[in-house]
Amino acid sequence: MKRQDFRFFHPLRVRWVEVDMQKIVFNAHYLMYFDTAISDYWRALALPYEEAMHSLGGDLYVKKASVEYHGSARFDDRLDVALRCSRIGNSSILFTGAIFRGDELLVTAELVYVFADPATQTSKPVPDSLRSILTQFEDGQAMTQIKLGAWTELGADAAPVRVQVFVEEQGVPLDMEWDEFDTEAIHAVCFNGFGTALATGRLVMQAPGTGRIGRMAVKRVLRGSQLGREVLHALMEEARRLGCGGVLLHAQLSARDFYQRAGFATRGEPFEEAGIPHIEMFKSL
Ligand SMILES: CC(C)(COP(=O)(O)OP(=O)(O)OC[C@H]1O[C@@H](n2cnc3c(N)ncnc32)[C@H](O)[C@@H]1OP(=O)(O)O)[C@@H](O)C(=O)NCCC(=O)NCCS
Repeated sequence: MKRQDFRFFHPLRVRWVEVDMQKIVFNAHYLMYFDTAISDYWRALALPYEEAMHSLGGDLYVKKASVEYHGSARFDDRLDVALRCSRIGNSSILFTGAIFRGDELLVTAELVYVFADPATQTSKPVPDSLRSILTQFEDGQAMTQIKLGAWTELGADAAPVRVQVFVEEQGVPLDMEWDEFDTEAIHAVCFNGFGTALATGRLVMQAPGTGRIGRMAVKRVLRGSQLGREVLHALMEEARRLGCGGVLLHAQLSARDFYQRAGFATRGEPFEEAGIPHIEMFKSL
């Protein structure tokens, strides 16, 4: 088995607690590495796992896990846990796993998951929608799609994401979430293969030649999966298309680094907006 056989890799570093008296990683920890990696695999498929499984009317249970040890990992090693969906049966899904230190193969595994009814833990056929997303991912297809449009087209998809993030998670009063800009804005919504909205943002014209991006929100369980970047870039492209020479935004201080990595620079002093510290940022296009 080689790195080229895999599309998905989950990086990790061996911690002291995982090393046994032989100064090598204790055998059971490799299974934990695969279990941690599979959570990231679902993120790579842009699937908010719990929500997705609930919508599919089932859950995935490990039926069989077999691990083969070819070499030993040691404290502080940087490892890549690779996973591939190798076979989808009627109710079973076989994942092939491998752990690499650089190009060196240390461990291989086979994990048989079974799609089952959570109430009775009896197996059920793998839904076609999940089957096709797994196949598309392993074929290298994109797992998300960004749609741009007016509130009348995308409001029903954008609204639940904003309520989940700003109202339920951050405590912004619901009546403050909606404003007059929603109807005039161009909205961007990021969808996964199930057609579930995962992230959103909007663009309004602040002044001739200057756009203003706002209401950027990504579902909590999928943060760190580049979805915010995809939405931001789609809105910046749209601003450019509309002839804007620059874009400004009011960034939550906690998201300042995210916007700085996208080329935005801060302007002025921090201020409060909806009870949350913000700072103005600008980027020339
Ligand atoms: C997983 C579970 C729901 C499966 O139900 P089940 O009635 O035992 O499974 P079935 O006999 O219907 O088989 C389901 C699938 O698994 C496959 N399977 C069963 N035993 C297998 C084995 N030893 N090796 C490989 N595949 C196996 C079957 O071939 C079938 O695949 P298919 O539908 O694609 O043809 C049930 O066994 C269970 O709940 N086990 C405990 C799960 C658990 O606690 N896991 C750890 C935490 S996630």
